[in-house]
Order: sequence, then structure tokens, then C-alpha cells
Amino acid sequence: MKIAVARGDGIGPEIMEAVLKIFQANKLALEYEFVEMGKWVFDKGFSDGMTPESKITIETLGILFKGPMETPKGKGVKSVNVTARKTWNTYANKRVFQTLHGVDTVFSRAGIPIDLTVIRENIEDTYGGIEHMLTHDVSLSRRFITRPGSLQLIKYAFEMAKKKGTWRITCGHKANIMKITDGLFLDCFYEVAKEYPELHADDVIVDDLCMKLVTKPNEFDVIVLTNLQGDIVSDLCAGLVGGLGFAPSANIGDHICIFEAVHGTAPDIAGKNIANPTALLLSGVAMLRHLGFMENAAIIENALLYTLESGVHTGDFGDKSIPASNTTEFAEAIISNFGKTPSRGAKPILPNMPATPTLFKLAKNPMMISKETEEEKIVGVDMFIESEEQPESIAKKCQRHAGVKFKLVSISNRGTQVWPTGSVYTNLVNQYNVRFESLDEDPLNQQDIIGLYVSLSGNFKICSSELLNMWGGKRAYSLAQGQ
Ligand code: NAI
Repeated sequence: MKIAVARGDGIGPEIMEAVLKIFQANKLALEYEFVEMGKWVFDKGFSDGMTPESKITIETLGILFKGPMETPKGKGVKSVNVTARKTWNTYANKRVFQTLHGVDTVFSRAGIPIDLTVIRENIEDTYGGIEHMLTHDVSLSRRFITRPGSLQLIKYAFEMAKKKGTWRITCGHKANIMKITDGLFLDCFYEVAKEYPELHADDVIVDDLCMKLVTKPNEFDVIVLTNLQGDIVSDLCAGLVGGLGFAPSANIGDHICIFEAVHGTAPDIAGKNIANPTALLLSGVAMLRHLGFMENAAIIENALLYTLESGVHTGDFGDKSIPASNTTEFAEAIISNFGKTPSRGAKPILPNMPATPTLFKLAKNPMMISKETEEEKIVGVDMFIESEEQPESIAKKCQRHAGVKFKLVSISNRGTQVWPTGSVYTNLVNQYNVRFESLDEDPLNQQDIIGLYVSLSGNFKICSSELLNMWGGKRAYSLAQGQ
């Protein structure tokens, strides 16, 4: 079996060397094809941080084991890590956080065991990076939460939870505020949950979830979240078990999977051979299990746990009275402990099994599903305009443009209604949303909207616009605060 390996930047090559040494000593029947990715590839002029040959290798082999990679700052280039996850639709980011004996934390001292799995959506949300300056003062980020994108993630989470024998699967969200986007994610969660009646599925608002995780982490098992909230919550969970040095990550797609540590390139300690390779090793162990190397994975993980338990540590953690090992010595200690079993948390040695073969070529895009069975009606439009005027004078001008098809119903500033009612205490920025609805609730078409757009542009700079749709008699847009 062959996989693609990218050494990465900063501490990447050092920790990757340590991990591959451990794999080699374990006599893994695994071959590596090293690929060119990372900062130095950006510097060579490849704008997405990888060479075309590397892309072909990864797409052919289907598995990428990668070290952390630096995103060059201020050059307008996007992170190669994010590009890789999105390009290859690795839609589920799975991070497992377990108590590691020998790693001192508040919870290990209190004898509270932690075993959390965070499944984070990996493609959508604000990570599309679709951002615009609407005026010189106002920036806007678009947040995509889609039904197919949420469903594929949530189905993976439930399937994984079932295999794991999960006792609780929880959706973290902010649907109380973001009723449409997080509301859609939450609806998808409960829709999938119906297919798994044997699992206890529930939901918690993300801020409450954070509070509960730091007070009672043992009350959770599998947690499913959208991308940005999942990013934050998973780093919080990393802190519960000892920090980023112990946080592995698997980016799972139907065709390509990427295994990597959660931490970055640690430029402050790069080149010194002192970095902690545990997170990358745990990611590698997850990859071995994914590939069916169950026995090798258990032997390596038990040796790691035994090593940690015996007090061997790198400089970033552990008992300071015991001298720290460097990266190479830490890897050698693990190798010398092959066959040993830790006193707590030992992994059962299961036989290796063949990996499930995957078909790498897509015949058609399975994401293009949509449920347009309901009646769709355009009932208005939100026009986002630039203006330094007060709401009353904007309203007067807008009403002149409303014509015979539209009525002006609301003006809001940063989501808070300021006309027809509002408060003098609401602070204003130079960008308003003027909401027009159809007069007499007559259905509108796109030509009507364009007509209004042209008319309104005589008075205002229109920064952007959004249609107001009714689907099956239900509003497919939010109301302004106070509307
Ligand atoms: P970082 O994770 O590289 O470092 C944060 C702190 O943790 C530093 O003090 C570092 O020394 C320490 N640290 C991290 N990993 C360690 C390890 N294995 N052993 C011991 N100490 C460790 O985060 P930072 O500084 O924000 O990012 C540095 C670069 O890494 C940036 O260019 C960023 O874009 C990139 N990055 C890449 C990621 C990836 O490839 N998946 C993820 C996160 C950041």
C-alpha cells in the first residue's frame, strides 16, 4: 500500500521524520511517495502551494499524510491546508481528545477521564473566505451552510458514532441567533438522527457547550459542529487533554483523506529537534486504522501511552524534574517500548484487515441535490446601500423609487431596524439595508428587481442585494432586529 507524504514547513520535517522512523521500526507494509507542498512551493511560484505533480499523486493514492504548513502572510495567497481540504472535499474533520496518562492536566489531576470526539464540518461556513469591503467602513463575510454539505458531514458523524458505540451524540450550534444557517444545520442533524434511533442525539447552544466542556467534559462523547464553531471548540478540547501537542486530526472525504496534526509549524522552535511529535503520531495511528493496519496501530499507540506514562517527555509538557527528551530521543523511546502495555487506556490488539477500496473518479457530482418541491415566490429584495444620511431622509428617497410594484418596509443598520421605528441610540455605519417588499403581496420576478435596482442606483451606490423568497409559504430570509 502506498500513501502520499508531505513533510511540511517549520517543525514539519522533524516530526514527520520521527513518526516515519516509528512506522519503519514497526515494519509497516506501507510505502511513501513524498509530494511537494507548503511555503517553499508557494515561493517557487505555485499559487495554491502545491505542484501539479503532487496533486496528481495525491488524487491517485487517495491518502495524504502531512506535516504542518505555513501560509505566507500578506501575499494574498490562501492557506494550502484549507485549499487541500476544500479541493478534495474532505468534508469531515475528526479530532479525538483522550486523557493521556503522563500528560498533566487539571482533569487528569482530578481523576476525570476525557474521551471526546469532535466532528467538524470542513468546507463551508465562513471558510469559503468570500469577503468584501462594502464601503470603506464596512466589511462583509458570506457564511454558507448548505443542506448537502451538512447532511454528508452529519451522516458521517452518526455512522462513526454507531461504529464507536457512542452513548451520546450532540450538535453544537447557534441556531437561536443564526436561525437560518445554524437552523438548517440543526434540522439536518435531527433529520439524520431519525435513522439512528439507538443513539442518544441532542443539541446544545455552542456557548453553553464551551462552558459545560470546561466544567464537565466527561458528560459529552461525540460532538458535531459547523466549521468555525468546530474549529474553536476543538482547540478548547485540545486544551482539556494537554494542548495542541496532543491533538490529532483526520480530514475525511469519500475519495481522499488527509491526516495531520492540529498544530502549526511552530516557527519559534523549528530546526532545534525539540518539537513534540505526539499529535502527528496520533494522526498517523488514526490513518493506520483507516487503512486497516489495526495491529500496528495498537502496538504503536500502546508504546506511545507507555512512554508517556513512564515520564518520558519533550520540553513542552511533563514533569520538569525529569530532563526533556528531544524529538529523536522521544521517537526512540517509543520504538524501545513496542510490545509494552500501558497500565491505563491500553488499546486492544486487533488483527490487520484489508482496507475498503475507494473509487477515485467521480461520474457526477453527488452534491447537486436539491429539494425544490415547494412553491417558490419572490416577495421582495434587500438592497444594501452606502449612505451617510439619516434613516428618515434615506426612506424618503427610497419611497420615490418604490414605484407601483414595491413598498419600502424597513431600513436596518448592521441588522438592527432604524426605520420606520428604531432608537436614536442605535449607532449607525455608512451602510444600510433597505428592504422592499411587493405591494399587495403580488409575486415579483427578476426583471422587477432589476428595474428597482436601476432606479435606486440614481440616488445611492448599491453595494449588494439579496432576493427575499417565500418557499412553501415560509420566509426564506431573516427579519431585522426590531422588525
Ligand atoms: P503553532 O501551532 O505553530 O504554534 C503555537 C505554539 O505552540 C508555539 O509556541 C509552538 O512552539 C507550540 N507548538 C506547536 N506545535 C508544537 C509541537 N509539536 N511541539 C511543541 N510545541 C509546539 O501556531 P501558530 O504559531 O499560530 O502558527 C504558525 C504557522 O503554522 C502559521 O503559518 C500557520 O498558518 C500555520 N498553521 C498550520 C496548520 C496546519 O498545517 N494544519 C495549522 C495551524 C497553523
